[in-house]
Order: sequence, then structure tokens, then C-alpha cells
Amino acid sequence: MKKIFKIAVDGPSGSGKSTIAKKVAKELGIEYIDTGAMYRAVGYKMICEGISKDEIDRIKEMLDQTDIDFNGNDIYLDGVCISDKIRTAEVAKMASACSAIAEVREKLVDLQRKMAEEKSVIMDGRDIGTNVLSDAKYKIFLTASTRERALRRWKELKDKGEDLSLKQVEDDIIQRDFNDTTRKLNPLRKAQDALEIDTTEITIEDVVQTIINSIE
Ligand code: DC
Repeated sequence: MKKIFKIAVDGPSGSGKSTIAKKVAKELGIEYIDTGAMYRAVGYKMICEGISKDEIDRIKEMLDQTDIDFNGNDIYLDGVCISDKIRTAEVAKMASACSAIAEVREKLVDLQRKMAEEKSVIMDGRDIGTNVLSDAKYKIFLTASTRERALRRWKELKDKGEDLSLKQVEDDIIQRDFNDTTRKLNPLRKAQDALEIDTTEITIEDVVQTIINSIE
């Protein structure tokens, strides 16, 4: 029988989680689940429907009629692929705001646990090692300096044609770090048993190898 194992990857925005987790998934032949994309999908739907973060009743109603799924590395919202719609500064902001809402977290955490049932997965986010998959065999916590993370995001946004200054992106990152680490519900924290890796000055390949070595 094939052995099932779970890898939890957490860390702040721009620490390299998704790039690294995708590569580890490919090397190990397991599924990758990007939970940040799921919060972005909810934020994106709120923007499309003109719902603000304070309209809890409308959010609850919306969540009851929301279907989120993955096909490979693509995310589908109500049956439509939205992978190329959710990597904007506007969606990032709404994702951060909606991730502090109990009803949103409840629905998405439930879905995340179901997605990880009965198969090996690597899942990345903010509360994976501490909450969603607290029993994961392997836990990784990625960090990087604020400036380096802002630079990575700024380049990513620039490639997509978004014209923001580095200072704006850095300010956004500082604000999101604050939101993510200080919210009451499942804030971003390193799990006690997680391996911490600072990615500021090491290559993606080296981080991937460190993770794979720690597993093997
Ligand atoms: O990783 P990301 O930037 O795509 O995440 C988008 C937002 O979702 C981010 O502000 C934090 C939030 N998030 C969360 O609260 N819990 C997770 N497990 C993943 C993301």
C-alpha cells in the first residue's frame, strides 16, 4: 500500500510558498493545494458582486452558493477558471480582509481538509501547520525579509502590467503581514514543530532540496 503523508507550508506573503510547494509537489508526485488562492477566489467573487467585508449576511448567502475547486494548479470558481484573475493587488487586499471573517474561514478550512483526505498533499497558506493540517507529518515555515518579499511581488505585478511603485507594494505587504499575524482567527504563526527556512538569500532550488532532504 502506498504511504500517505501531508506537508504543511506556511509563511507570509512573498516568502516563496507557492513556487516552492509546486516544485516539491512535482518532485514527489503529490498534489499541491494553494489555500491562498481559495481566499483570493472568495475575495474576487465579493468584488464581482459588489459585496463589502462588513456585509456579513450577504457574504454568508454568497458562500452558500459558492463552489471552489482545483484542476491541476488551476482554480475554478463556480465552474469557471479564474487563475489569471486573482493575482491583482485589489484581489489580494480583499482576500486579506475576507480571511478574517469566521464564516469564510469555516467554509474554506472545511473544504481544505476534505481536499487533503486520503491522499498525499502539500498544502500552503498561513494556518496549515497550526490548524488545517495540524497533524501533518512535515511542517515548513518560510520567511524572507520584507524588502525581498516586496521586490518579488512588485516584479510579479509588473509582469502582469500592474503599475505600482515598490514602496506601494512594500506598504501593502506590511499591512497584510499585520492583518495576517494579528487577526483573532488562526493568525499566521510558525507551528512549534515546523522547520523554518529563510529564503531571502537562497535559491528556490536550494529551498526545494532542503525540504526534500528533510522529508527523505
Ligand atoms: O498566499 P496569498 O497571498 O495568496 O493569500 C491571500 C490571503 O489569504 C492572505 O492575505 C492571507 C489569506 N490566507 C489565510 O488567511 N489563510 C490561508 N491558509 C491562506 C491565505
